[in-house]
Amino acid sequence: MSADLTKSQFDYQCVDHILLKPLQSEAIIEGVVRLGVNDIAKLDVFSCLNSTNEYLLNEQHNANEVVVCLAEQQTQGRGRYGHQWVSPAGVNLYLSMLWPVSDEQQQFEILSLWLLLVIVDEQTAYGINGIQLKWPNDICIANKKLAGILLERRLRSKKSKLVIGLGLNVAMSLKSVVKLDRPWIDLISTKPDFAYSRNEIAADLLVKFHQTLCKFEIGQLENLPEKWKHYDMLFNQHVCFLKNGIEQDGLVNGVDESGNLLIDIGGDIQHLNSANVREIKVI
Ligand code: BTN
Repeated sequence: MSADLTKSQFDYQCVDHILLKPLQSEAIIEGVVRLGVNDIAKLDVFSCLNSTNEYLLNEQHNANEVVVCLAEQQTQGRGRYGHQWVSPAGVNLYLSMLWPVSDEQQQFEILSLWLLLVIVDEQTAYGINGIQLKWPNDICIANKKLAGILLERRLRSKKSKLVIGLGLNVAMSLKSVVKLDRPWIDLISTKPDFAYSRNEIAADLLVKFHQTLCKFEIGQLENLPEKWKHYDMLFNQHVCFLKNGIEQDGLVNGVDESGNLLIDIGGDIQHLNSANVREIKVI
């Protein structure tokens, strides 16, 4: 959008914007199948849910099925650490994928980092520049949050349910009333001529998630520290953070192979797990 557009010209362009086309399950399924994934048992689009993650965690499905749901709006979208995920109608992507996992598989924290890298790859391929990752969970542009992932797990009879939830800010800036307590950004303000629909973005992401999950299951994902480093906004930064509720500070040195944050605290390199650390701030 050029800066000299009048408000009414801008509104007119936005009404027709491809990113505002409604989500449609048929279009997403068609995209997914075209890209070679045939084993999604069910893909539903809802106009409104409390939370797409909650919906899949509660639904009854066959133990081995991959199931996907999206909603145009969430009334109780949730983020990490108990945060709310603000989810206005018709302008973003709220997507969850249920992936069957065995009970022995315990290490899901690292999976979340791999999936963040997948999202960055996809957005970069779309021509979105300047994306950075803030461990453990944020995809940012110019220090503002673009997307986040929430992995949740619930035990069921023989297998566990793993639900991967993605929130991606797409065209939220078109809703002037949206207020968030943290700085945010969306695709349309980053690239006003964005030429893909939310259906296409969703299909691409689902296929890439699928490929990554398959590789994860057979231990084929390698070299996380090197890949993470390309986008790491904390690398070599002095940060303060809460570890088990106690404030500490140190110099970030990337992530290790298990997805822990490496921090030099007074000359001692510590490997911090995301379960124990929160509120990381650059100082
Ligand atoms: C975060 O960065 O804190 C994670 C945000 C995850 C939000 C998504 S939106 C779809 C899915 N359903 C939810 O309730 N949360 C996730």
